[in-house]
Amino acid sequence: MKNIVLIGMMGSGKSTVGDSLSRMLGLEWVDTDDLIEAKEGRSIRDIFAREGEDYFRNLEQAVSGELAGRQGLVISCGGGLPLRRECIAPLKDAGLVFWLYRDPGKTYDTLDAVGRPLAQQGREAFLERFAQREPIYQREADYIIRGHTTTQQAAERIAAIYREVCQP
Ligand code: S3P
Repeated sequence: MKNIVLIGMMGSGKSTVGDSLSRMLGLEWVDTDDLIEAKEGRSIRDIFAREGEDYFRNLEQAVSGELAGRQGLVISCGGGLPLRRECIAPLKDAGLVFWLYRDPGKTYDTLDAVGRPLAQQGREAFLERFAQREPIYQREADYIIRGHTTTQQAAERIAAIYREVCQP
């Protein structure tokens, strides 16, 4: 059974949607950031501050490899995970990838930046980061979910696609 892989910018709703989806479909939900924090025994903020982004991406790559060996999961990915091909490729092979698109300005304006080291540089920097990532999200996504008004609606759309494709 394929995994459901949620990608998108910080604050696009990957965790909320992942949680709802797992209940709707009766699948286990995992979040790559939570797994990394549990493995390392410290926060993302601490990992970035002490070790830097590259080290964090190595941890993401290890977690991706592990998750790709499992089935029937809903996986909420850290926003930057698709930046490295080696991180997203194994997940893509073992799952359906959904990009949760949300307007980047609205996303920044409602974002809880606490604990998110790459959201500390202000609105312009956030919009620029989004612009750099947009083609990557686009390239890696099997489906783009956009235009939804609530996270519940996004979850319902993804569940419908998953049922059609994976449980016909
Ligand atoms: C990051 C997003 C974060 C977390 C880390 C880096 C990014 O996850 O993995 O702070 O590069 O966009 P969320 O998307 O869950 O905030």
